[in-house]
Amino acid sequence: MKLAKTVMSLTLGLALSASVYADGAAKFAQGGCTACHQPAVDTAGPSLKAISAAYKGNEAALISFLAGKGAPKLATGRFAGQFETLMKPQVANGSAKWTAAERIDVAKHIMKK
Ligand code: HEC
Repeated sequence: MKLAKTVMSLTLGLALSASVYADGAAKFAQGGCTACHQPAVDTAGPSLKAISAAYKGNEAALISFLAGKGAPKLATGRFAGQFETLMKPQVANGSAKWTAAERIDVAKHIMKK
């Protein structure tokens, strides 16, 4: 009985952690982020691959950025000056209003690319 309970809670734990990732992707799409961010190619905004490379080993800074703290790292080159016009409103009206857990899920979704 004790073993059955352990197995059940392990299975539940796995199902939950799998759904956390799925939620990050869903939140990213539902937040309108996919309009400007594709997985591997730069479009209106940098690709998720480029973002995850810029934040490699520093997921905490990405989570802070989504909360509206910290300077953008990718507002250079063809994206120079676009933080203020294109990206900042997405943080102010979007990700900064999400729950902390949602920002973590989305950061994990981005860092997987
Ligand atoms: C209208 C187009 C547009 C939309 C919609 C958009 N972004 Fe962006 N995003 C950009 C542009 C342009 C940049 C590059 C400038 C910059 O780095 O801030 C960027 C950069 C970023 C960065 C890198 C920040 C850095 O350090 O430079 C992250 C993370 C990001 N976006 C997340 C999001 C999320 C999450 C959403 C949805 C809530 C979103 N974006 C919606 C255009 C957009």
